[in-house]
Formats: sequence, C-alpha cells, structure tokens
Amino acid sequence: MRAMLDQVANRIVEHITSLGDQPASYESDGRVVAQSFSETAPSEGTDFSSLLDRIFDDAVPHSFNTAGPGYLAYIPGGGVFPSAVADLIANAINRYVGVWVAAPALVQLELNVIRWFCEIVGYGAGSGGVLTSGGSLSNLTAIVAARRERLGDDFGSGVMYTSDQTHHSVRKSAVLAGFTESAVRQIETNEHQEIRLDHLGAAIAEDHAAGRRPFLIVGSAGTTNTGAVDDLTALADLAERERLWLHVDGAYGGFFALTQRGSAAMAGLERADSITLDPHKGLFLPYGTGALLVRDEGSLRRAHATFADYMPTMQHDLDFVDFCDISAELSRDFRGLRIWLPVKLFGLDAFREALDEKLDLARWATDQIREIPELEIVTEPRLSLLSFRVRGDHEDEATRALLHAINARQNVYLTGTMVDGRFVVRICVLSFRTHMDRMEMCVQDIRAALAEVLARG
Ligand SMILES: Cc1ncc(COP(=O)(O)O)c(C=O)c1O
Repeated sequence: MRAMLDQVANRIVEHITSLGDQPASYESDGRVVAQSFSETAPSEGTDFSSLLDRIFDDAVPHSFNTAGPGYLAYIPGGGVFPSAVADLIANAINRYVGVWVAAPALVQLELNVIRWFCEIVGYGAGSGGVLTSGGSLSNLTAIVAARRERLGDDFGSGVMYTSDQTHHSVRKSAVLAGFTESAVRQIETNEHQEIRLDHLGAAIAEDHAAGRRPFLIVGSAGTTNTGAVDDLTALADLAERERLWLHVDGAYGGFFALTQRGSAAMAGLERADSITLDPHKGLFLPYGTGALLVRDEGSLRRAHATFADYMPTMQHDLDFVDFCDISAELSRDFRGLRIWLPVKLFGLDAFREALDEKLDLARWATDQIREIPELEIVTEPRLSLLSFRVRGDHEDEATRALLHAINARQNVYLTGTMVDGRFVVRICVLSFRTHMDRMEMCVQDIRAALAEVLARG
C-alpha cells in the first residue's frame, strides 16, 4: 500500500504542479487515441508503475486541461486537492452511508455539509437536501419532488415552465420524470436573457384555461449560455400566487451567494422550493459532486421513501437522515467527505474570496475586450461569464475563426455559443486556479488571434 501511495503521490504532485504549463487542450485525433486504448480484459496482472505510465503519460495528455488555469470553457470545474485525498480515504475505508445506522457519524459529516449549503442560500429550519453526482441529477430529483408534491400520482396533465435559456438537463429530466417534452414550456427571454414574466404569466393562464395543471417554474441563477440570472423575487411572487413549485437551477451561479455581489444578483433565491447547487463548479471540487436543497426536507422524503423487509429501520427524527429515504440511490460513494474536508481545512472564507476574485476577473476581461474596436461585448457578466463577437460583415464566420485562433495558442480554452441567433465566444471564469496572469494571457491571445484573423481577411 505504501509503495503504491508513494508512486501515486509522485505522479500526482508532478501533474498538478505542472497544470499551468500543460496545454489548455489537445491536438491529437481523439478517435485514433481512443482506439489505441481499446483492449480486452486481461487474464493476468500488470505491474503498477507501467499502469501509472499508461494513465499519466499516454491517456491524460489527450484531454482538455479542465483542472488548469486556462480552462475558461463551458462551465469550468476545479479539483481542489484535499477532495481527492478525501475520496481516497472514503474509498479506502469504504463505509456505507446509504442508511444512517450503518455509519451515523460519517452520515452526520455529510449532513453538516448540507446544512452549511442551506445556510449559504438562506434556507432556514426544516430545510434539507441531498448530495448528488451533479446538476443534472439534482434537477431530476427536484422535478420528481415537485411532481409528487403538486400533482400526486395522476400527473398526466402537468405542465412546467422554463425559459428558452434554461439548461437542457431540465428538459431531459422532465422526460425522465414521465412528462412529454410538450409539457415543458420554454418561455421567451428579454434582452438580458432573463425569463419574460409577462409571457410566463400568460402561458400559465392559458394552460389553466385549457384544463392543464401548471405545477412548476424553473428559474435560473446563472444560465450556462450567458450567465443570465432570472428575476428570482418576481418568480417567487408569481409561484406563490399561482401555487406553483419554484425550482432554481443554480448549478453554475448558486455558490456566488457566498459573495456580496452574487447574493445581490440572486436576491430571492431563498424563496425557491428547491435549489440546484454544483460544488463541482462553484466550490471548485472534483467532478461528480452536486447538491439539491429543498426548503421543506419532507418533500424529498415523500417523493422517495419506500419500504422493504430486509432493510434496517429508517430514522424518523428529522435530525437523523437515511440518504436512501430522500434520494434515488441506495448504495453510493461517501461523497460528503469530498466537501467536508476542504471546507474544514480552508474555511468558507477562502471559497468566498476565490469566488469574488472570479467576479473581478470576468469584469476586468470585459473592460479589456471592450477596448478592442473590432470586438463587441454581447453579454456583460452578471456573475463570471461574458461573451463577445467580431463586429462587421460575416461576423459569425469571423467570430468562429477567432475562437479557433485563440484556442490554437493553447494557453486558454474557450467555447462558443449562439446568442439571439448569432455566434459568440464565451469566457467563463470559475477555476480556482485562474488568476490575473492567466486572464492577461487570455486577452493577449484574443488580440493576437484577432490580428491574425483580420490579416487573413
Ligand atoms: C445551469 C446548469 N444546470 C445544470 C447543469 C448540469 O450539471 P451537471 O453537468 O453537473 O450534470 C449545468 C452544467 O453545466 C449547468 O450549467
């Protein structure tokens, strides 16, 4: 065991300390690489160090450097190192946290994490939640809870409301939860990509009039496309008036509630019935760490609790929770430790400061890009996500060429999307490893890539 740990420690430290020098993406042909890794199950073992070589030398270099400082694509992840240590501990001890009685103290550590998250979003007594594998599963769990609470078993005529900017996992989850895609209304957004409340109100009235059963509004606290934050207070007022469940998808933006600017932008968040948070985004943790919070913990229980003779007695005191009673999973990893350890080690202020820095960096990049006459800021950062494009004729083509030329430099990795039918380049600053030096590099690369694209004509 020690020999394995020593070898792994060397490889990991070498890998992590060189993240900033590693290319932001890869140039190899992914299909060729993938095929070279295809193999049959071995009958005999292989020595450990050659397996490590295979992973670190052969496989890892052909990937986006998602843990590095230049990853400003999609929604960046993180990879705070103590979480990896926590996973090693959790997997090595391999205790069972699906039912409370199997490991009450370990379950309590995870419940502490959920309580901390509830406090971050402003939830009070009676609230609760569950750690999931990510935002998609959190959104699915929220829809299932809302369905059970507001529609009961006969939910065929239920209708839910999202905006045309809502993350696609919500539509996918709706179908997984038994609804047709046509039961998901995609309401238009305004010039800031926020849901249009007048259209939303009208759609609800129309559905009521047609005998359908509106039951759920999904608001966004930071959309993936442009970082837009819906007017959560107005959504909460409307949901209350119409007796609808309000779910807020804060997978990208939710943890900015730790900062003053973020919590001002997301005012009203605490009035949602459920909230998706993604620690593997806004808390910089490794992939596979999501959370769903609910204002009334009983809603999760009513949606998931069931019974079998061979199971141990479940807890009925709200202070003691059986995770299998409030979620779809029975056996699962001890994912709470992956959050508990770094938060205890660094304290929440460290995360707050890092998030504040991301807000500053996005604002700084916006100001820099605004000074480049050939570029136009398309969406300002509400949080830490902005987008821009090339001005003039053939702007889509030029903007695509610009994105390609920026990424070819391999210092940063950016992605594109469509805003109002036009192609834009996005910058999402959310890695705890991204600091001013990398943002300067990013702006330099944008300038150089633009000169190159313009010279090509
Ligand atoms: C706003 C939003 N919601 C949901 C998701 C889905 O989260 P996950 O990828 O963790 O399943 C994402 C992912 O980027 C997101 O940005």
